[in-house]
Amino acid sequence: MHEEKIFQDKLDREIKIEPQDWMPDAYRKTLIRQISQHAHSEIVGMLPEGNWITRAPSLKRKAALLAKVQDEAGHGLYLYAATETLGVTRESTIEDLNSGKAKYSSIFNYPTLTWADIGAIGWLVDGAAIMNQVMLCRTSYGPYARAMVRICKEESFHQRQGFEILLTLSRGTVAQKEMCQDAINRWWWPSLMMFGPKDDDSPHSKQSMDWKIKRKSNDELRQQFVDICAEQVKVLGMKIPDAELKWNEKKQHYDFGQIDWEEFWNVVKGNGPCNRDRLEARKKAHEDGDWVRKAAMAHAKKSKHKKQQTKVG
Ligand SMILES: [Fe+2]
Ligand SMILES: [Fe+2]
Repeated sequence: MHEEKIFQDKLDREIKIEPQDWMPDAYRKTLIRQISQHAHSEIVGMLPEGNWITRAPSLKRKAALLAKVQDEAGHGLYLYAATETLGVTRESTIEDLNSGKAKYSSIFNYPTLTWADIGAIGWLVDGAAIMNQVMLCRTSYGPYARAMVRICKEESFHQRQGFEILLTLSRGTVAQKEMCQDAINRWWWPSLMMFGPKDDDSPHSKQSMDWKIKRKSNDELRQQFVDICAEQVKVLGMKIPDAELKWNEKKQHYDFGQIDWEEFWNVVKGNGPCNRDRLEARKKAHEDGDWVRKAAMAHAKKSKHKKQQTKVG
């Protein structure tokens, strides 16, 4: 009881919970699930964009995309490290992804069909991720919050490079304009789904808010995202594919249409256009990396042995 009080007191006074602190089991479990899912999303998220590195239209675009995809790998690594502070091993966390037990963000189960998709992902997918991650900079678990501060700085570069790709296309030929609009059409709704189910259908949300893991609800974040994008799309001279999108003077927010929740759950359950491909690619990468892990372990063992010998000598 005493420990629970200290924990609650820290939450109340906005003091971060650190790995060595006592925490309720359910808090720990929620964080392990959330941070590892987040890590998996960063890593799987490299796949749809990695698909375009060899086909980027210029050296400048290629360098930026390469840097962006590398950033995502870094985000995954910080987050796997943050998960480890909660007492689970990296091996078991990665095994959960490869076996299909763990989830990752469904957005990465959609294909990247044209170069404009790289722009739309940066603008919309990284944009939606930022909304969520800015909130997480203030999350109650210390290592997660600190990882987020660094990640957010890189994410804003991702978002801008995406928007700039679309801006260039939007000022290009008729075919480029059409390609730009087509990518926005395909990525808009899945991006709105990134915020998760409606608040009424999100049973864990309330507890996460009480624990200050989350600071804003799914619907609140989604509304914020719609409001920003509805303005930014005007700069592109493009359209958001939603006939019901309309400024509501009374609410001081944009109204928007219904999300296709059937599609959302279908992709979550593994039936999206690329679920199988993504998992196969991750498993193959893990297997192909086996010799690297073994070599690193052998090297570490050798160095340790050498150090001990010099100490003895
Ligand atoms: Fe990221
Ligand atoms: Fe990103």
